[in-house]
Amino acid sequence: MWSWQDLRSLLGTERPPRGVAACHSVGDLRDRARRRVPRPVFDYVDGAAGDEMSLERSTAAFRSVEFHPRVLRNVTSVSAETTILGRRSPFPLVLGPTGFTRMMHHSGEPAVARVAAAAGIPYTLSTMGTTSIEDLVDAAPGADLWFQLYIWRDRARSKDLVDRATEAGYRVLVVTVDVPVAGPRLRDVRNGLTIPPRLTLRSLAGMARYPSWWANVVTSPPLSFATFAGAPSDLAGLINSMFDPSVTVEDLEWLRGQWDGPLVVKGITTLEAAREVVAAGADGIVVSNHGGRQLDRSPVTLEALPAIAAALGDRCEILLDGGIRSGADVIAGVALGARACMVGRAYLYGLMAGGEAGVKRAVDLLTAEALLTLRLLGATGLGDLGDGLVSLRPAPR
Ligand SMILES: Cc1cc2nc3c(=O)[nH]c(=O)nc-3n(C[C@H](O)[C@H](O)[C@H](O)COP(=O)(O)O)c2cc1C
Repeated sequence: MWSWQDLRSLLGTERPPRGVAACHSVGDLRDRARRRVPRPVFDYVDGAAGDEMSLERSTAAFRSVEFHPRVLRNVTSVSAETTILGRRSPFPLVLGPTGFTRMMHHSGEPAVARVAAAAGIPYTLSTMGTTSIEDLVDAAPGADLWFQLYIWRDRARSKDLVDRATEAGYRVLVVTVDVPVAGPRLRDVRNGLTIPPRLTLRSLAGMARYPSWWANVVTSPPLSFATFAGAPSDLAGLINSMFDPSVTVEDLEWLRGQWDGPLVVKGITTLEAAREVVAAGADGIVVSNHGGRQLDRSPVTLEALPAIAAALGDRCEILLDGGIRSGADVIAGVALGARACMVGRAYLYGLMAGGEAGVKRAVDLLTAEALLTLRLLGATGLGDLGDGLVSLRPAPR
């Protein structure tokens, strides 16, 4: 006959993990995020342009990655250390620029930058950020901060932002070139998303379901753009009034003259464009289609990467973004030619799921998964990734 004592010894005393600790993948963080923030906020992050084909294809491309492991290798110690634009980093990951970050969670950009600083990886503040260039430096001492610029109609204001980033000690300038005009983000239009979120009858009803999110919005400093004031509150209206559809490669050359540090051009999907911006003085490029948020049906970045890396890998540093949701995806990107990968949604899901702890969980998961993938591949470092360890399976007929 079993006694309660016998049973208790089998049950164990550990409490199951809760909150973001119970999320075991970026997908789990996404599921938790969906339950924790109002629908328009989740959709703003999760959604993309048009029919969202670029987004769908980007994530699908990572599912066509095939690993060819080497067996009988000593993988007792493993490291994913690398150098990103001249600075050592323990992991080939950059937290990319995302606008309105305090809308996802009131801890916003400072939380993301603190996690990046602790992990020793770079964080990129967006022009559309909700924390100022200077405040972020104070909030995350020691972080490797990059600043992302959109070239505005008013060049003097662009120049002013570049000067402030220089003055505040930002190390890398990232100029995004795939937003001549706003992409058609249909989820935002359907949800009537405004920045800051407006209290309507519908959103008041939503308060009941997301009380902590709304309480934080109401009790933290007003949600607004840190770099400009008086802008229209609908997203497309804002982009179209401030951004300049006439920007050309000459503007890039002008910008090169304004910034002494590494200059990275983000939003490149073809070899031709990559060559053009490198000739204009870019030190690095991000092979990116803005996470599918601009031109739907644009090239799949993982597929575009190998040819660009083969042609220009010795002339500039190549980063990759779009659809990266796991550490295995990061390893695939590096194996196919990227120096490092950039992520947007992966850390934003973490932020929405649990603030700073959620961002940390996302970065920890990506790191642990990448190290595990290296080991299972029979590699002890990123340098072992050549030699056909990773390929893309041909598309099924
Ligand atoms: C909510 C959100 C806001 C973004 N805002 C910006 C931005 O202000 N500037 C920019 O260059 N890219 C922006 N991006 C694009 C990201 O930097 C990055 O290219 C994209 O998220 C990569 O795809 P992934 O989300 O699948 O990782 C944004 C992306 C998201 C999801």
